[in-house]
Amino acid sequence: MASSSSFSLAARPVGVFDSGIGGLTVARALSRVLPHERLIYFGDTAHLPYGDKSTAAIQAYAVKICDLLLRQQCKVILIACNSASAAAYELVREYVGSKARVLNVIDPIVAHVGQTYQGRTVGLIGTKQTVNSNVYRKKIDDLDAGVQLQSLATPLLAPMIEEGFFNSSISDNIIRTYLSNPVLDGIDALVLACTHYPLIKEQIQAYYKDKVEVLDASDVVARHVAGFLNEQQLAAPAAHHATGHHFYVSDFTRSFEESTRIFFGQEVQLEHYPLWE
Ligand code: DGL
Repeated sequence: MASSSSFSLAARPVGVFDSGIGGLTVARALSRVLPHERLIYFGDTAHLPYGDKSTAAIQAYAVKICDLLLRQQCKVILIACNSASAAAYELVREYVGSKARVLNVIDPIVAHVGQTYQGRTVGLIGTKQTVNSNVYRKKIDDLDAGVQLQSLATPLLAPMIEEGFFNSSISDNIIRTYLSNPVLDGIDALVLACTHYPLIKEQIQAYYKDKVEVLDASDVVARHVAGFLNEQQLAAPAAHHATGHHFYVSDFTRSFEESTRIFFGQEVQLEHYPLWE
């Protein structure tokens, strides 16, 4: 049986952060898989997009966000952004130390790809930061599973989705232009290595006419977090009701709030938390 101190640790919230509201796709998957967990979400809308920022800038933002999530007593901090996971995971883990456990969105995908696509060719699309960091390639190569990774930076996709352009002819055109790049020729599966991309998954599947498996990271990551919490005996007790998620943003606009519906599945109230004032 859990001791009283581990019980109270388990009852603490899970911190989730992203450059903006795209990470809500991960928060949504988490809330489905882990209905008893209370989430504290932080979207750094003041600095969005991270995908074009330098590693040093993203690291500085990430550290400040972790300070806030630690003040909120988070037991786990999930970096729900591929760009921030690529640029800042190691640094954040060191910075947070034993105060909370830090998880990223890259490792669960790498493990999944290694198990599922041994000896095959896998494509990946993401921001410039994610692709140019080469972090997926390094981690997949380390598995030695014979997976050949072909990556392409697709920087227009996140702003396009944020502006509401998906399931439209404009988005179809941009998606087709990117996916027809020869770098992605001959792939068996495509990793959507950006938290915005689940919203264009169907358009991507339509482009490939279901001949290429399209991997939506949010479900893989949510299952990984659930496994981690159970393994570490950190899962919130079943009697614990996950009321009162909090959703903070560093810059509030009504349009961000309206967009929460498309990323989280329902509109949520964003609280303005001006970390940088
Ligand atoms: N959420 C970011 C990611 O997963 C994409 C948006 C951005 O560039 O900030 O990489």
